[in-house]
This record gives sequence, C-alpha cells and structure tokens, in this order.
Amino acid sequence: MKETANAPANIAFIKYWGKEDKELRLPANNSISMNLSDVYTTTSVEFEKNLKKDTVYINEEKVKDRKEKRVVKHLDRIREIAGISEYARVESTNNFPSGAGIASSASGFAALTLAATKAADLNLNEKKLSVLARLGSGSACRSIPDGIVEWRAGNSSETSFAHSLFPETHWKLADVVTIVQEEEKKVSSTSGHDLAPTSPFYATRIKNMPLKIREIKKAIKDKDFSLFGEIIEEEAINMHTVMMTSTPPLFYWNAATVRIINAVREWRDNGLSAYFTIDAGPNMHIICQEKDIEKVKTRLKKINGVKRVIVNYPARGASLI
Ligand code: DP6
Repeated sequence: MKETANAPANIAFIKYWGKEDKELRLPANNSISMNLSDVYTTTSVEFEKNLKKDTVYINEEKVKDRKEKRVVKHLDRIREIAGISEYARVESTNNFPSGAGIASSASGFAALTLAATKAADLNLNEKKLSVLARLGSGSACRSIPDGIVEWRAGNSSETSFAHSLFPETHWKLADVVTIVQEEEKKVSSTSGHDLAPTSPFYATRIKNMPLKIREIKKAIKDKDFSLFGEIIEEEAINMHTVMMTSTPPLFYWNAATVRIINAVREWRDNGLSAYFTIDAGPNMHIICQEKDIEKVKTRLKKINGVKRVIVNYPARGASLI
C-alpha cells in the first residue's frame, strides 16, 4: 500500500558534530533541537511487485548516484526488518525550494522512515522510528518526536534515539531562517563529522557538553530567553571553531554570514533580543520571541546578501498523512 508521511526539518540548539561510530551514526554527544513548522518534507512510498529496482524522485527529479544509494540503503534496512523483498517507488517533495541551502537530510530521512515502515506494514513505536531514522542521517532521529527534542547519544544502536523534552506548545520561540546562499554546500556534514576529532578543541568541546546540556534544559524549562540565547550562540560559535580548526579546516561562513553575526549582536546592544545559530553552511537561524519577529524580519531584509527569510515556530514531529 502507498503511505505518505510529513516530517519537519529541525534546528539544533546543541549540535551534533563528531561521531563515535560512523556506520551506526552514534554521536559523540547528546544534542537538542526544535522541529520547524514551515520547512518540511512530504514523502510517499509504495513497495511494488513489478518493480525491477527502487526508484526515487525528489522534487519530481529522479535521483542518482550517492543520493540514490543512501536512500536504497535505507530501504534495504526496512526491507530486512519487514522481511520483504519488493522494490519501492519513493516520491519526496520539500516545501522549500530545492537548493534553498536548507538541510533536507533530517526531514527527508524522518519522512522516508515513517512512510516506508508503514508501507512495509510495520508499526514501529517512536523510539524504534527514531533509531531507524538515525541510521539514514543522524539529525533525522530528532525529527521524529514532537516539539523540543533531545537525542541521547547512547552506546549502541538501540540506545541512541531522540525523545521529546517539551511539546511544541511549551514556548513560542521563532526561528527566522535566513537564506544567504542557495547552492548546496561544498563539504557535506557527513564528511565534516569525520574531521571533527582533528581539531585541538574537539575534546574540550565534548567534555563540556553535559554541563551545557543541563544549563540549556533549565533555560528552556524556565523560558529564560536571554540565558537560552547566550547558550545557543556560544554553542554555534564553539562548533564552528572546531570546524575551522580541523585538518583540513572547514569554513562554512560567507561574507553575509559575518554581516548578520555582527548585526544581531548590535541589535542586542540596542535592546532587540535575538540570537543566532548556524549549522553546516552559511545560512543563519535567527532565534527570537514572537513579539520581535516583524522587527527581526525588517532588519534582516536590509542586510546585503539576504535572499529570503522563512519564519518558523516549534512543531510536531513526523506524522502520517
Ligand atoms: C551541523 O545529521 O547531516 O547540522 O549523520 O552524517 O547525516 P549525518 O549528519 P547530519 O549532521 C548535522 C550536523 C549539524 C548539527 C546538528 O544538526 O546537530
């Protein structure tokens, strides 16, 4: 039967950067993220007897090579659990324009996991779905549960999954996704993860994680926006420092990224409470409170290099349609 699922992208407040086990995608540390309401993937999967191979379409284009292999490998995992051998037809669309420079592996593998397991007649619980999504792309495990989510690193495949810390209704944070570059990044996060341990700052980053995680959980629970903002901004800079000091170094920022970093800090000096975070690319996530969204949008649009902004609120995790 054909099954269709929706899954949100997520923004990490505490980042996943560096793996303990590459094959199993076991991360070096716990991470914390928020599902995004307005950046998501919709995927339908149907296993069919007459297919000779898996066919995968993303935004109506047939995918090939590495991308296709990664999806086929994920379908193989699901076929194995379900004990079936039929190939699948996969159709996936992102609600954001392709090449918008927004990571789609999290929403993509979360939606694929839910749609394909259902289509294979499996009824997996949230934990098992999260474990399985993680094997496709680490950050995808965080797009399964609702709201603000923690991925516990664990020490085996079965113990490494995400769970909801707070429902999407807990705190109306906004993430103003700010696109400054539309092309795909040159170094994928998958290859970037492998370089992380070569940074002299990596070990210290990992050592300080448990404290940082305790602090951010408290800030989110208490809805202490300035404490929360200080933590996420410091964390993004910390991860990018590890990236820039890896061998070879990884620079994901461009000139517009730096302009926005400076602008956000200046806004704060002038009383506008907004903070930034950045994943493996030059695009920015400006986190603010609902009351400040219009101000943030207006100011962002004046910055040279800003191509578009997408306002997001906390959202539910993956769901069947
Ligand atoms: C910088 O989940 O894309 O966005 O497991 O290799 O697919 P793979 O990596 P991926 O890494 C995401 C890295 C990040 C930080 C984060 O989302 O936590």
